[in-house]
Amino acid sequence: MRHGVIIGTGSYTPPHVMTNDDLAGMVDTSDEWISSRTGIKERRISAGESTSDLAYEASLRALKVSGLSPEELDLIICATITPDYFMPSVACTVQDRLGAGNAAAFDLSAACTGFIYAMVTAEQFISTGMYNNVLVIGAETISRILDWDDRSTCVLFGDGAGAMILSAAEGPGHILGSVLTSDGGKQDYLTCPAVSLVNPYTGDSNAKCDPHIKMQGQEVFKYAIRAITDCIDRVLNKAGLSLQDIKYILPHQANKRIIEQAAKFSNSPFEKFYLNLEDYGNTSAASIGIALDEMIREGLLIRGDKIILVGFGGGLTSGAVLLEY
Ligand code: UT7
Repeated sequence: MRHGVIIGTGSYTPPHVMTNDDLAGMVDTSDEWISSRTGIKERRISAGESTSDLAYEASLRALKVSGLSPEELDLIICATITPDYFMPSVACTVQDRLGAGNAAAFDLSAACTGFIYAMVTAEQFISTGMYNNVLVIGAETISRILDWDDRSTCVLFGDGAGAMILSAAEGPGHILGSVLTSDGGKQDYLTCPAVSLVNPYTGDSNAKCDPHIKMQGQEVFKYAIRAITDCIDRVLNKAGLSLQDIKYILPHQANKRIIEQAAKFSNSPFEKFYLNLEDYGNTSAASIGIALDEMIREGLLIRGDKIILVGFGGGLTSGAVLLEY
C-alpha cells in the first residue's frame, strides 16, 4: 500500500530571543514563576518576519534535505492560525516563493493540533494515489495575537515554523496509525476573535473586536492532560502496538507540567517525552514540526524507530500520529 514517507524536515525560528527576564520588565511576572509553572525559559519573537517568511525558510530547508526540486511538489498544506492574510493563504505565498508551480496549496486551521491534522490530511492525498510529494508546514507568528499586557498568556507563546516533506513510497517512514478529535463544545476555553461582522444590516453594533488570545488556562491544562493520555492510548490500539514499541513521544510543547502529568497517567517514563519548550515556548501549530526536525538533526531517530506525535489546542482539538521513521 502507498504511504507518505518522511524524506525531509526543516525548521526556522526568528533570531530575536525574548527571555523570561525580558518579560519581567514588561508585565508583573518573573523568571521563577514562568520557569516553575511552565518550564519555558525563552522564546523567539518575530521582529518583522511574517508567518509566510518563517514558513518559507523552514520549507526551503526541508526541500534541501529531501533532494526534491520545488516543481516536484504536488501539494502544500500550511497549518496556521496566524496567516499573513485571510487570502491568499500562507501556503499559496510559500508556493510562489519556492517556485513550486505544480503544487496545489491551502491552509488548515486546527490551532496547536494543526501539524497533526496537516500530516494526516497529507497522508490521505498520498495513500489514495492523488499526489506523490506533499509539503506539510506548521507556521505561526503568535506574537501578533498576544495581548502583551496579559501576563497569563503573553509569557507562554513564541513564533516559528516547522516543515516536512512526505513522499509516496513503500517501506519504513510512514504513519502506522492516527487519531483526530474535536470538541467544539469547549471552544470558549481558548479563543481569538476575527474581524467583526459589520455590514449594511448590522450597523456597527458588533464592531468591538479584541483580536487577542483569551484562555481559561486551568481548563485547557486539564483537557490537555486527558487529550494526550487518550490520544496515545487510542493511536497505540489502532496500530496494534504497545508503549514498549515506542522510542519517543513528541507532544505539543505547551507546558512541562502538562507533559509530566500526561506521562504519569499514560504510565510512560517522562524520559520518553521529547521537550524543547524551554527554548521556544509554545509555537502552536509549529511546535511539533520544529521539535521533530530538531530530533532528526540531533540523530535521535534512526530509520525504523517508532514515535508518537501528539497535539492538543484550540477548538478544542487533539490528535496523534504513530509514525515509523
Ligand atoms: O497550546 C495550548 C494552549 N495553552 C496551554 O496549554 C496552557 C494550559 N494552561 C497552563 O499551562 C496553565 O494553566 C498556565 C501556565 C497558563 C497557568 O498556570 P496555573 O498554575 O494554572 O496558574 P493559575 O492560572 O492558577 O494562576 C496562579 C496565580 C494567579 O494568581 P493568584 O490569583 O493566585 O494571586 C495568577 O494571577 O499565578 C498568577 N499568574 C502569574 N503570576 C506571575 C498568572 N500568570 C502569571 C505570570 N506571572 N505570568
